[in-house]
Amino acid sequence: MILVTGGTGLVGAHLLYHLIKNDEKIRAIYRSKERIEKVKEVFSFYTNDESLISKIEWFKADITDVPSMIPAFVDVNKVYHCAALISFNPNDYREMRKVNIHGTAVVVNLSIDAKVDKICFVGSIASIGNSLNGSLINEDCEWNSQEDNSGYSITKFGAEMEIWRASQEGVEVVIVNPGVILGSGFWQYGSSKLFTQVYNGFKYYTEGITGFVGVKDVVKAMVLLMNSDVKNERFILVSENKSFKDIFFLMADSFKKNRPSIKIQPWQTSLFWRVSSFVSFFTRKAPFLSKYSAKSAHAISKYTSEKITKELNFKFQKIEEVIKETSINYTNSSF
Ligand SMILES: NC(=O)c1ccc[n+]([C@@H]2O[C@H](COP(=O)([O-])OP(=O)(O)OC[C@H]3O[C@@H](n4cnc5c(N)ncnc54)[C@H](OP(=O)(O)O)[C@@H]3O)[C@@H](O)[C@H]2O)c1
Repeated sequence: MILVTGGTGLVGAHLLYHLIKNDEKIRAIYRSKERIEKVKEVFSFYTNDESLISKIEWFKADITDVPSMIPAFVDVNKVYHCAALISFNPNDYREMRKVNIHGTAVVVNLSIDAKVDKICFVGSIASIGNSLNGSLINEDCEWNSQEDNSGYSITKFGAEMEIWRASQEGVEVVIVNPGVILGSGFWQYGSSKLFTQVYNGFKYYTEGITGFVGVKDVVKAMVLLMNSDVKNERFILVSENKSFKDIFFLMADSFKKNRPSIKIQPWQTSLFWRVSSFVSFFTRKAPFLSKYSAKSAHAISKYTSEKITKELNFKFQKIEEVIKETSINYTNSSF
């Protein structure tokens, strides 16, 4: 039996489809039934077979709540741990520590108790450090706690430490560290919201550069690594390093919409996030731009996925293709 956490999120939903189509026995954790509807939408991008989703054993639990999680591990031999809280809102820091670090510790402890064979964990490039000599960032670049790291980055690093603990306790682990993940579904949330924003005529762009990858490649790599002899290793998953400008332009072109036309300078985002956090202090609402979103909009970080390319002879889908495919699904979606 395979246990999937975060199955009601972007990565987890695509992963569930890939596992279930291969007739695997799957138990997936959920917190609310409404989110299972979103998973159905993701399945609809692959197939008309509506019965597939009912082959999943849906299990109501919260990864931070040990008693709810204990029964989820009965008969489990493999765990895909995709659940996390992704936020750049400083007010979410405590909750992120709880979900990302404590929640991962719960998954690890129960995996050890249940003598699970292998865990595949979805980390992030956020928990990898910069390269010191300006070369491409690889898996050996150590995360630096002395840097001005975002709460998300700190908690994803903490989660990864919990996963390494599992490897010390005899459970095999593989970690994937994807860049920004682009894919279909969950259009109002996380990285998929970029498509919604560009479709709705978002006017602004920055020239910061980071790594991007398609969600299908992320789940393909996860399944290949889980089913391989590879253990106790982490792998960056980045198809291409691109600027936000290039990504927004590709999205706008795919939608046949106007390209964003206003370039935002670092001083402008720097001003916006300060004003935004000032306003947020009084309104108690999430800031419309946080310090770390502002910072990452201009940062230039380039990654290499040479390790997985060599290990599995892995070939990534080009980002232009990912965006074209995803934009078609977006325009065909029933909102
Ligand atoms: N999206 C990206 O660009 C990106 C890039 C790099 C790495 N990642 C990593 O990839 C993983 C999946 O990301 P995603 O984009 O799929 O995120 P997502 O769409 O926000 O999904 C997050 C998932 O985690 C679940 N979750 C959150 N808190 C939970 C809790 N306390 N108990 C049980 N489940 C909980 C959510 O459940 P509900 O549906 O109930 O909320 C949802 O299924 C994360 O580990 C993230 O850090 C994402």
